[in-house]
Formats: sequence, structure tokens, C-alpha cells
Amino acid sequence: MSMASALWDWYAALGYDALNALLPYDELQEAVLTALAPMSSERLFIAGCGTGNLEMRALRRVNGLEIEALDFSASMLARARAKCAGYANTHHHQGDLCQRLPFSDDAFDAAVMCNVLYALPDRQAALAEISRVVRPGGRFILCDRPPGSDPKLVTRAHFTMLSALTGRQRLDGWLRTLGALPRLLAVAAINRRIQRRMETGAYYFYPIEEITSLLDTLGFTVMRVAPAYAEQCWLLQAIRRVEER
Ligand SMILES: C[S@@+](CC[C@H](N)C(=O)[O-])C[C@H]1O[C@@H](n2cnc3c(N)ncnc32)[C@H](O)[C@@H]1O
Repeated sequence: MSMASALWDWYAALGYDALNALLPYDELQEAVLTALAPMSSERLFIAGCGTGNLEMRALRRVNGLEIEALDFSASMLARARAKCAGYANTHHHQGDLCQRLPFSDDAFDAAVMCNVLYALPDRQAALAEISRVVRPGGRFILCDRPPGSDPKLVTRAHFTMLSALTGRQRLDGWLRTLGALPRLLAVAAINRRIQRRMETGAYYFYPIEEITSLLDTLGFTVMRVAPAYAEQCWLLQAIRRVEER
């Protein structure tokens, strides 16, 4: 366990996957997949894949995908690999997104980075690498937190959404929430640490105008931005411009 990945290793071990019991997290994963719109036989890159929730969702939905996923946390990757074990064309790599990626230029039809950018020490280098490995005309889906976002509001939104459900769905939702409760408390504690790192400047939350302009300098055209994750994130769809390289 490296110093840099220690927080994320702990997060995976203490209960990252309890997030799957939260309705806004489910809604976020769905929104990211809808924005990504993967098509059969496409080659996708998942940057900072965590425990593999997006890969699983994409693989269940679309046949014939080839997925390369990368994360630096061994504990996150162990869970992601276990989830995707039945899929031959999916590979999980351990690596640092701020270093050169182990893929050739133009290797992917699309890339996704969801709730990872804020934690990277060299965000510009990481985005430049994504730009290098996405083919011209390819898609980049980026989701992250703006300044002032508050993860506590995600939990509040979960209970509002839960109360709006009816019948069996509502019962299942409550049972899942109660089952995940101890791990959700650990998630809340880790989120407090993430918040502190933001306050001390170790993590950085991009305002949407700043990230849009940075992506433009790196060869992406931002096509659409929408709020996501109980409005605690922005979700951005960009296209790698054809003329540049
Ligand atoms: C909040 S989790 C998001 C996981 C996943 N994208 C999701 O939406 O569930 C952040 C992930 O970024 C990974 N990460 C953070 N810094 C990284 C780096 N420098 N290189 C590779 N992965 C990194 C962490 O290990 C963790 O799995």
C-alpha cells in the first residue's frame, strides 16, 4: 500500500461498495453510462475505476465491449477484478493516472473519469494522457465535484428519493439502506477526510468554466454539462477534436 493510495485502500476495505445502496449513486452511475452511450465492440478506458461498478453496468448492458480500467488502489482493484471475472475482454491495471498510461495513442473510442480528478496531484498531466489515448472523434465523459459541494447532501437526497418509492421497491430500498448502514458510516468518515484535503488544498474541485477551458486547451470540445449526484457533481460530455494531434 503506497502512501498516496492508502486512503483509497481503506475506503475500499471499509465499505466503498456500500455506496451502491444509495439511490443517488445508482442514479449517477446510470447517468454516466447514458452519457457514455457505449456501443458493441467499442474499446473503453475507465480512469480511476474504483471497485468496478461502471464496468459491470456497461458489460451487463452492451455485448462485445472491450474495457481497460486503471486505478492505483490494490484494494479497489481486487474488488473490481472479482466483479468482472466472467468477462474476457475486460482488464484491470494498477497504475497512476498522473504518469504515462500503458496504452498507445488513439487506443480508445471513449474514456470515463468519475469522481477521481479532484484527488490527482497533477490533474493537467492526467487529462493530457486521456487526450492522447482517446482517438480523434472519440468521447470523454468526466464527472467531478465543484467547489462548495457537500457529500452530506447526497445522503439527504437518498432518503428523499427513498420516501418517494412505493411498495416492494420502497421496502427493498430500506432493507438495503439498513444493511449498508455501518459501512455508510465509514463512508461518511472518509468523506470528511476528503473534505479536509480539499480545505487544505491537497484536493481541488474544478469550477465548470475552468475545467471546460482546460479541456479545450487539451483538444476536447465540451458538448454538454449537466448537474449529477444529487447536484453535488457536474457531469460533462466532450469529444476529442479531429484536427489536433
Ligand atoms: C471516489 S473513487 C471513484 C471510483 C469510481 N470512479 C466510481 O465512480 O465509483 C476515486 C478513485 O480514484 C482512484 N485514484 C485516486 N488517485 C489516483 C491516481 N493518482 N491514479 C490512479 N487512481 C487514482 C482511487 O483509488 C479511487 O478508486
